[in-house]
Amino acid sequence: DTLRKVQTHLDQFQLPLEKLQEVSARLMKDLVRGLGKQTHHRAPVKMLPTFVRATPDGTERGDFLALDLGGTNFRVLHVRVEEQKVLKMDSQICAIPQSIMLGTGKQLFDHIAICLGEFLDSQNLKGKTLPLGFTFSFPCEQKEIDKSFLIRWTKGFNCSGVEGKDVVKLLKEAIERRGDYRIGSVAMVNDTVGTMMSCGYKDQSCEIGMIIGTGTNACYMEEMKNVKRVEGEDGRMCINTEWGGFGDDGSLKDIQTEFDIEVDKTSINPGVHIFEKMISGMYLGEIVRLVLVQLTQDKLLFEGQASEALLIPSKFQTKFISDIEDFSFHLLHLYQKYLWIQPNKNQITTKSSLYFYEKTKLCFTFLLQSGGSLHDWVIMKSFLSSMVVFCISCLCLWFRPDHGLENAQKVLTHLDLKWNLVDARVVRLVCDAVSSRSARLCATALATIANRIRANRGVAHLNTTVGVDGTVYRKHPNFSEELQATVRELAPECSITFLVSEDGSGKGAAMVTAVAQRLASQSR
Ligand code: BG6
Ligand code: GLC
Repeated sequence: DTLRKVQTHLDQFQLPLEKLQEVSARLMKDLVRGLGKQTHHRAPVKMLPTFVRATPDGTERGDFLALDLGGTNFRVLHVRVEEQKVLKMDSQICAIPQSIMLGTGKQLFDHIAICLGEFLDSQNLKGKTLPLGFTFSFPCEQKEIDKSFLIRWTKGFNCSGVEGKDVVKLLKEAIERRGDYRIGSVAMVNDTVGTMMSCGYKDQSCEIGMIIGTGTNACYMEEMKNVKRVEGEDGRMCINTEWGGFGDDGSLKDIQTEFDIEVDKTSINPGVHIFEKMISGMYLGEIVRLVLVQLTQDKLLFEGQASEALLIPSKFQTKFISDIEDFSFHLLHLYQKYLWIQPNKNQITTKSSLYFYEKTKLCFTFLLQSGGSLHDWVIMKSFLSSMVVFCISCLCLWFRPDHGLENAQKVLTHLDLKWNLVDARVVRLVCDAVSSRSARLCATALATIANRIRANRGVAHLNTTVGVDGTVYRKHPNFSEELQATVRELAPECSITFLVSEDGSGKGAAMVTAVAQRLASQSR
């Protein structure tokens, strides 16, 4: 009974395929609005030109610095570009305290200049004047590769006096204030662009970059003739979609839950980046916490008693979601691999019974159908392994009803909650509902872009590669699988390869700098 009532709360997180198709159609309209000369000013999806047109031609060489600001970590890197290779020579993570994230712009850029100075010291690079690739993961109106005006802060940053300003200029001024080192030419990139480029030198067909981390966003190669804001009709340009802003004009009202509305209201930028707030790591934990508080108030969890910790905003970290779902993923993976079934993850009451029913049915069907061919060793092996997994799962669940809930129990204890087995199960289901919606929404946006590229090229089938990064995508146990499965449903005419970027976007930023340098020297 409790589980059925819980399910009614979680139903609002379930988005059927038809709904996702509707959302995709809305996003497609917004992409076009964002690209239009007359319409882009009011467009919620900004579709920002990046001035990245050319990909590496293999002749780029040299040493570069890279800064990577806006994700979980601020990183400084030394990168070497050689023949067909980009090597990370060294890198350093530098903390950015909350006081600086919410302080003045001058404090932020001075802090960045200090970190860079310390890194150059440690690498004995202070005497050199190296070009610098600056990954700055916020929406910027880029005028040139080294002129980029911050439109607004997103995620946890809110430094005064930076919005509307040229970020490259602010960085250079901070370095000049120190006066103890110099940098060469600068190329500014969004993290999606850095990610696409860092995967691009490995896979030439990488033409989409996607981030699902603290925030979420994607860039892709658009036909120049469609980029109405930039002169020229030939070739392509990378467009930073800033899809996090989708829904800022109210277009996602029908799928926003009361919890999403609350997360938005209490954020430092209400009304802004609505899509991102339903998807990315900065908000997922808080959505789960709000659902848990509601369920506790309705006496469906923890016998109606919330702990102090549970009532503190942001106390439920997104990382907990990955931890809690970890084991269920393990089982799910076994089922999919050995039993070829896709259990319906969202069914609470029948969840485990469904597994058993499906598995038993499958084993018997298999036995009956395969008949004489059971002599075939391959079939026999699959059959036996199915039976083994089935038996182990049954035994585990029979003897250990809390099987797979250990992580949930740890997190609940950490939050000072008094839980029982049903509570732990409910919490896992809440995490599952919230992360699953996030993966499906992200997939919807990615499928929209893939479908657009396919239509742009006028091809019946598109083969393409997406460079991906971000802690949610990397760390959550089944996020990537759910995302990829949903993309296949929404963009059946596109075969998409997913490449997780190595070493983050810094290498890509260095690559963009290298290309910009080559183009500049060629035009001299
Ligand atoms: C990193 C990239 O690996 O991932 C950054 O280098 C990017 O540029 C980040 O912003 C995104 O993930 P997260 O989870 O750190 O926000
Ligand atoms: C936010 C930023 C965007 C960035 C994304 C991922 O949405 O506005 O520029 O790419 O987070 O880090």
